[in-house]
Amino acid sequence: MVRPIYLASLLSTTLYALTIAFDFDSACGRIASQAASIANATIFFADLVPAGTNLTFPDQDPSCASTTSFQVVLADMCRVSLNVSTSDRSGITMETWLPRNWTGRFLSTGNGGLDGCIQYVDIAYTTALGFASVAANNGHNGTSGELFFNNPDVLADFVYRSIHTNVVVGKDITQMFYDTPHNTSYYLGCSTGGREGFKSVQNFPDDFDGVVAGSPAVNFNNLMSWSARFYNILGNSSSPTFITSDQWLGLIHDNILKQCDTIDGVADGIIEDPNLCDYKPEELICSPNTGTNNSDCLTVVQAAAVRQVFSPMYDLDGNLMFPRQQPGSENADFIGLLYGGEVFEYSRDWFHYVVFNPSFDVKTANLTDYTFVEKLNPFNIATFNGNLSDFQSRGGKVLTYHGQADMLISPADTELWYNHIAETMGLPPSDIDQFMRFFRISGMSHCANGVGAWEIGQTLPGASGILTSETLDPERNVLTAMVRWVEEGVAPDRILGTKHVNDTTELGVEFRRRHCRYPLRSTYDRKGNSSDPDSWTCQ
Ligand SMILES: *[C@@H]1O[C@H](CO)[C@@H](O)[C@H](O)[C@H]1NC(C)=O
Ligand SMILES: *[C@@H]1O[C@H](CO)[C@@H](O)[C@H](O)[C@H]1NC(C)=O
Ligand SMILES: *[C@@H]1O[C@H](CO)[C@@H](O)[C@H](O)[C@H]1NC(C)=O
Ligand SMILES: *[C@@H]1O[C@H](CO)[C@@H](O)[C@H](O)[C@H]1NC(C)=O
Ligand SMILES: *[C@@H]1O[C@H](CO)[C@@H](O)[C@H](O)[C@H]1NC(C)=O
Ligand SMILES: *[C@@H]1O[C@H](CO)[C@@H](O)[C@H](O)[C@H]1NC(C)=O
Ligand SMILES: *[C@@H]1O[C@H](CO)[C@@H](O)[C@H](O)[C@H]1NC(C)=O
Ligand SMILES: *[C@@H]1O[C@H](CO)[C@@H](O)[C@H](O)[C@H]1NC(C)=O
Ligand SMILES: *[C@@H]1O[C@H](CO)[C@@H](O)[C@H](O)[C@H]1NC(C)=O
Ligand SMILES: *[C@@H]1O[C@H](CO)[C@@H](O)[C@H](O)[C@H]1NC(C)=O
Ligand SMILES: *[C@@H]1O[C@H](CO)[C@@H](O)[C@H](O)[C@H]1NC(C)=O
Ligand SMILES: *[C@@H]1O[C@H](CO)[C@@H](O)[C@H](O)[C@H]1NC(C)=O
Repeated sequence: MVRPIYLASLLSTTLYALTIAFDFDSACGRIASQAASIANATIFFADLVPAGTNLTFPDQDPSCASTTSFQVVLADMCRVSLNVSTSDRSGITMETWLPRNWTGRFLSTGNGGLDGCIQYVDIAYTTALGFASVAANNGHNGTSGELFFNNPDVLADFVYRSIHTNVVVGKDITQMFYDTPHNTSYYLGCSTGGREGFKSVQNFPDDFDGVVAGSPAVNFNNLMSWSARFYNILGNSSSPTFITSDQWLGLIHDNILKQCDTIDGVADGIIEDPNLCDYKPEELICSPNTGTNNSDCLTVVQAAAVRQVFSPMYDLDGNLMFPRQQPGSENADFIGLLYGGEVFEYSRDWFHYVVFNPSFDVKTANLTDYTFVEKLNPFNIATFNGNLSDFQSRGGKVLTYHGQADMLISPADTELWYNHIAETMGLPPSDIDQFMRFFRISGMSHCANGVGAWEIGQTLPGASGILTSETLDPERNVLTAMVRWVEEGVAPDRILGTKHVNDTTELGVEFRRRHCRYPLRSTYDRKGNSSDPDSWTCQ
């Protein structure tokens, strides 16, 4: 999605006077030789890139190209590309985008899945907002986990070292370039990017002043097993327990909405808080009188499988490994990946290249294996250390959000994580609110999209693809909300989400809704227009 960008009254242009006097073009000409002094770094190039340039990435791994093959640059910037070795058998490839209109802010972006791919759309977004921005390949190229095999250093980069190295080096380059250090530093990422944000909060509390970590893949080991477990429950396409995509989307999803959509008082396809949905798939069991037409009903074993899908996962000792999949999350984009009769590909790669070996038959993985996966926890990829006191005491702020209709990472995992922090630190939500806030985004799928008011400024599409004072308003944009929290001490209370007609900005706004911070719940007053955000309060 590429749209015209109107840069209007960005948060703060305090440095604008400074940037006028500063000779940006010459700085870009010098930076490659300056940065060559950084330990372990090899500079590939430093290019002056004018706003409007359509960048393509011919050197990038082809598997990354499926998500990004080009990116239109939104603001003048100096693009520095380099690699940095992290050991004698590992290293990262990274980019630093230095905007002409620098605000004095530094920002790092993150990755997704098991990749290995620079998220160009994210650095384009943050560079346009005046952040000196960095992105790295997380220690390996491509979306596969194969390069972890027999190379713990590549794995260490993925778990914690790439994100930290990228920040240390990126801050150095920023200072060399502008000849002055940054004032404030930020992070923006989702999914694996959300986990990277929390890894920084836990292990490198000085790296960022403000972290926006969406749909975080924390509790990572168990997430891999939980994703694999759907194969154990549903089997393959010839198993009696198997459920077709048509049944998930046309039968079960509709039945879930029938049972649960109006718990919140509005029949809008959005289950505001899926925790309140005690879904009973047995309602769909085929009646002996009407026969078994599988587009109308489920067999007994299928209904039992559906109940399992929506049940939490426990280990052999009865401890909770991962919370349940939330009903209502069924999504055409992901049914094939998780419920399609194969083991989820990231789980497969994790078992093949990290935990076991490539000859391990992932289809036979069982709870004994999953318990082993949990215990192995290489380099503490679990990212579940609930003691955030180092980050808290230095004044760091973290904002997390999670789509309540996320099928890839159950949003209940972020509740588990929040509650774990509360218990570890011995703090009630009113105290956690001082440094961490968690917004539950109803009707949002994985990091974006969905039937809910999912545009919250988390990405460029999440800012409607148009940077205006409206889309950058801290009341409705998680990134500018974080900047305001860090720099002005005004913490976000609620986030006003937007839903466009057919997710198309030009077609206008369908509705907006304010999303509440956990543990508050967005609650309809049962009298106003439910499309009006003022008809909802946080309770
Ligand atoms: C950018 O370049 C790519 C590849 O050449 C092309 O497919 C795409 O349409 C271009 N986008 C714009 C907005 O020019
Ligand atoms: C990784 O990709 C980058 C481009 O994104 C390329 O410069 C680098 O050589 C690649 N590294 C390997 C080991 O293939
Ligand atoms: C530089 O590389 C060496 C070995 O390759 C490694 O031990 C060291 O930690 C690296 N330094 C930095 C700053 O990454
Ligand atoms: C960095 O790039 C240089 C030049 O292509 C290459 O020789 C070196 O092996 C690369 N280092 C890493 C860690 O990728
Ligand atoms: C830089 O910011 C100024 C003031 O906000 C604006 O007028 C100008 O268009 C911006 N320039 C670029 C290249 O974005
Ligand atoms: C940092 O903030 C100070 C005080 O507001 C300001 O004077 C200075 O120019 C800023 N420096 C940078 C690099 O933004
Ligand atoms: C499904 O699994 C069964 C049992 O493992 C196997 O015999 C069968 O070939 C598989 N069918 C498909 C379509 O993969
Ligand atoms: C099953 O039900 C669907 C929808 O009600 C109907 O279109 C289809 O013809 C039925 N199939 C059989 C074999 O009865
Ligand atoms: C898992 O499979 C292994 C190997 O077949 C077996 O030894 C173990 O008992 C199984 N664990 C469970 C919980 O079924
Ligand atoms: C949290 O970590 C800090 C140091 O990092 C330590 O002083 C404190 O005791 C820890 N708190 C708990 C509850 O473990
Ligand atoms: C929205 O998309 C649907 C399905 O693609 C289409 O049928 C409908 O006409 C679109 N509505 C508008 C207003 O474009
Ligand atoms: C509710 O508000 C929406 C959006 O403003 C409007 O389109 C709709 O007509 C309103 N519904 C009623 C019943 O007033």
